[in-house]
Amino acid sequence: MPAETFVSRLNEQIANEFAAHQQYVACAVYYDAETLPQLARFFYRQALEERDHAMMMVQYLIDADADVTIPGVAAPQTSFQDIVEPITLALEQEKRVSQQINGLAATAREASDFTSEQFTQWFIKEQVEEVATMSDLLRVVERSKHDPMEIENYMAREHSGGEGEDPTAPHPAGAE
Ligand SMILES: [Fe+2]
Ligand SMILES: [Fe+2]
Repeated sequence: MPAETFVSRLNEQIANEFAAHQQYVACAVYYDAETLPQLARFFYRQALEERDHAMMMVQYLIDADADVTIPGVAAPQTSFQDIVEPITLALEQEKRVSQQINGLAATAREASDFTSEQFTQWFIKEQVEEVATMSDLLRVVERSKHDPMEIENYMAREHSGGEGEDPTAPHPAGAE
């Protein structure tokens, strides 16, 4: 069994990941309504990744025979003053999640729960990528905020496909 302190923090993190999902859906819908389909597509895809993160954590708890609580989530921000703001918000969110994941790893280590500590490792690596992606994107969008088509071209060029399979990723509950 994983340490009780870890189980309770992981359940909190499941709520954080679902909240991140809702926030990215809200960002995607904002861009979709602004007719910026490439930015919308990026955030729809990003939202699905957050859902997967939550479901990976759910699967871990199920496998470990620990309690899982599927949470309600806080309402996302749905209106933005300009096309830069959703990305500023996303970068802050990713930085916050990085701290939360590090906190999870620390909780597992303090409890000498090395299995759970190992489970957090993939998420630590994932957060490094997500923070880097969002800070690159913020730079691009700030530079070209008066020329949204330039941003759309960048997104089509740099973020067109999915990320492809990551064989080291934990299994999300319910996934094929
Ligand atoms: Fe996440
Ligand atoms: Fe993320």
